[in-house]
Amino acid sequence: MAIQIPRGTQDILPGVVEKWQFIEGKAREICNKYQYHEIRTPIFENTELFMRGVGDTTDIVQKEMYSFDDRGGRNITLRPEGTASVVRSFAENKMFGNPTQPVKLYYLGPMFRYERPQAGRFRQFVQFGVEALGSMDPAIDAEVISLAMEMYKSLGLKKLRLVLNSLGDNESRIAHRTALINHFQPRIGEFCSDCQNRLEKNPLRILDCKKDRDHELMATAPSILEYLNEDSKQYFEKVKQYLTAMDIDYIVDPTLVRGLDYYNHTAFEIMSEAEGFGAITTLCGGGRYNGLVQEMGGPDTPGIGFALSMERLLSALEAEGINIEAEQTADCYIIALGEKGRDYSVTLLQKLRLAGFSSDRDYLERKMKAQFKAAERLGAKYAIILGDDELQTGIIAVKNLETGEQTEISLENFIEEFSKLCR
Ligand code: HAM
Repeated sequence: MAIQIPRGTQDILPGVVEKWQFIEGKAREICNKYQYHEIRTPIFENTELFMRGVGDTTDIVQKEMYSFDDRGGRNITLRPEGTASVVRSFAENKMFGNPTQPVKLYYLGPMFRYERPQAGRFRQFVQFGVEALGSMDPAIDAEVISLAMEMYKSLGLKKLRLVLNSLGDNESRIAHRTALINHFQPRIGEFCSDCQNRLEKNPLRILDCKKDRDHELMATAPSILEYLNEDSKQYFEKVKQYLTAMDIDYIVDPTLVRGLDYYNHTAFEIMSEAEGFGAITTLCGGGRYNGLVQEMGGPDTPGIGFALSMERLLSALEAEGINIEAEQTADCYIIALGEKGRDYSVTLLQKLRLAGFSSDRDYLERKMKAQFKAAERLGAKYAIILGDDELQTGIIAVKNLETGEQTEISLENFIEEFSKLCR
């Protein structure tokens, strides 16, 4: 039997990969505009990084990690997300000492989660994410959110909803935690075993439970916003004020929890409201994680970021009927006829490519008509006709495939003349 691709993964083939490249280019362009710089961290890390970073009560760590022992007996995990790695690298490379602060980074690459595959949910998916480390200015929260929104808007998406919450600082979280325990404890027996485990370890996670989401205690659970202390309240007010100043609409949802443990203060998600987008509507998620650098062995440094997946971005484009042109183009195609023509096309093609022209030729000894078809299929602007006659006279016919216009160019100064023609 033929070997098949693993479940939850996909091949991105030519014809579609150009869409990905276009979007990736857009991400880099926007990051440059906002002054975020690329960081590349390993695709695998020591498992402990995610246990401590993402949090060992999360679904990601408990159920979804691709972990294995390597041949040296080290426990390794394919990264399920990017923040823990970036923060590790920030601490390990002492970026807190960089002259430029805050440190603003972005990444683009595959992440791995052993989830049940469905529309918009893969086991290998590509995240684009940013992290800003070293600033506790609410304006940077607004900047990070604005960058995420620009990514979608610049591609033409309109049916977006930005959902915002504050999880508060440590003090607020401790107060909220106590209130949550008091709320759920008397009836925790009615909840799933995961939630029972979460009660003492991390009761906030109960609010994110998929199995028990319709339990009546969920709707009446104490809201974090009621437990925010003055500092946290003020911080949240400023973030909202800056978003309004930037003309970014948002909805506050006190039940927004996020699936990772490292968050405090600002938490946000961007959803698609396009019809037919499917059950999973979250395009992007992020928030502030002020304790994480210290957890990774660095000095106490605040941080905020987000990540979005390319796969869900592409689905959102499709749902809104936005087509990104994935056109193939080439400057020229050599139509080689006869043995001498084919022989000389090796030399000419090399010269064209060295001169910077994207060019190709026939490698299947096709008839003239089929070679013209091949040139069209590549989206070539010019066909260069190279037959025995042309070689003998030293005059080459060049056909503009868009206008049909034909020009004759001497073989002697071919590259020079062809360059002029293309200009
Ligand atoms: P997350 O919410 O786990 O956060 O993932 C962020 C985004 O990755 C999601 O909104 C979704 O677009 C995409 N995503 C997650 N799982 C899958 C999947 N199985 N298939 C396709 N797409 C998926 C994080 O990863 C945090 N590190 C974000 C962050 C950065 N927070 C602060 N900085």
